Amino acid sequence: METVGFISVAITLFYMLHGERMINARHSMKIYLGSREPVNNHLPNCVLLKNLNNGSEDITVFGDGLALISSGLKYPGLPSSDVPGKIFFLNLKKSDMEPMELPISGKLDLETFNPHGISVYTSPANGTVYLFVVNHPQHKSQVELFKFDEAGLSLLHLNTFKHRLLHSVNNIVAVGVDRFYATNDHHFPDELLKTTVEPLLGQPLTNVVYYSTEEVKVVSEGYYMANGINISPDQRHIYVADILDHKVHVLERKTDNALVSVKSVSVGSFCDNIEVDPKTGDLWLGSLPNIWKMFQFDPKNPPGSEVIRIQNILSEEPVVTQVYADDGHVIMGSSVATVYGRKLLIGTVFHKTLCCDLD
Ligand SMILES: *[C@@H]1O[C@H](CO)[C@@H](O)[C@H](O)[C@H]1NC(C)=O
Ligand SMILES: *[C@@H]1O[C@H](CO)[C@@H](O)[C@H](O)[C@H]1NC(C)=O
Repeated sequence: METVGFISVAITLFYMLHGERMINARHSMKIYLGSREPVNNHLPNCVLLKNLNNGSEDITVFGDGLALISSGLKYPGLPSSDVPGKIFFLNLKKSDMEPMELPISGKLDLETFNPHGISVYTSPANGTVYLFVVNHPQHKSQVELFKFDEAGLSLLHLNTFKHRLLHSVNNIVAVGVDRFYATNDHHFPDELLKTTVEPLLGQPLTNVVYYSTEEVKVVSEGYYMANGINISPDQRHIYVADILDHKVHVLERKTDNALVSVKSVSVGSFCDNIEVDPKTGDLWLGSLPNIWKMFQFDPKNPPGSEVIRIQNILSEEPVVTQVYADDGHVIMGSSVATVYGRKLLIGTVFHKTLCCDLD
């Protein structure tokens, strides 16, 4: 073991001295070998939305055709805009389909706002709409809580949730005004270990955390890189995407908010965020067929996009379908896909946002 430890440290030092990208590390091998060129599988009437040119990493549809969108993510190793992140609003029922930036009031530092995964929680008691946002100011991880004012089209910052277990949060799903499940996409809280030792080990070391004001605990672990997370319409199951393992895990919620693994479904692509159609219970995944090209970004040889739907996930035979694919010449690096009626919205980590008709 001593020798293995020594070799690990030596290789880590080698990589630390020879560039920050761990090209030969195990995670990178998964990224390289799992990447492929998508064959275009386009849909009719696609339009690129206005104003959203710096990413739309996560999109959530709520109420009757309203969407909130996180834009401007700065994620280590990936291209990004140099202006602070923003939250956009889109009314899918309006024909102009023009997203607008939501002004934010309250105590949040807008200069360092770096929004990532988002989740909307609507109070069953009074209909108030709350937006939870994973935020990475100065490479840290915390979760911001906002109240959405639909009449005034603005966000009021209410609270910031921080905890040592929320160290590398990628996405969240809210289950109350002060509680949520969160995925950590890395095991080591430390920035240097995240980019050196962790990809080298290439082990399934990441987890899912339950956060509430009464307790914070790890509720599921063993993911190579836990990413998207969402909940079934009946609130009984949690879905977690392991992006490096190309799988969506189904977990059952217990009364104490613990999670018990039910099964996993292979999707054959680097699945990022999960959206759930409230009517059908179908899962919609924004996926990265060629994540390698995301990190080796070259606009002349762009990373593609892929949208995957999973139907009947709880049945014996879930149906996994590729609904859309593009080689990157229309839209690069899709991270999220969601539907409203017959419209499909596709968001990206750092590129544009596409809206298509499903048929
Ligand atoms: C997008 O990024 C560019 C370059 O960083 C910046 O000039 C522009 O204002 C950004 N747009 C929005 C809507 O944030
Ligand atoms: C609405 O309900 C939530 C709980 O679901 C509560 O925290 C909040 O204070 C309520 N707001 C108003 C204005 O009553």
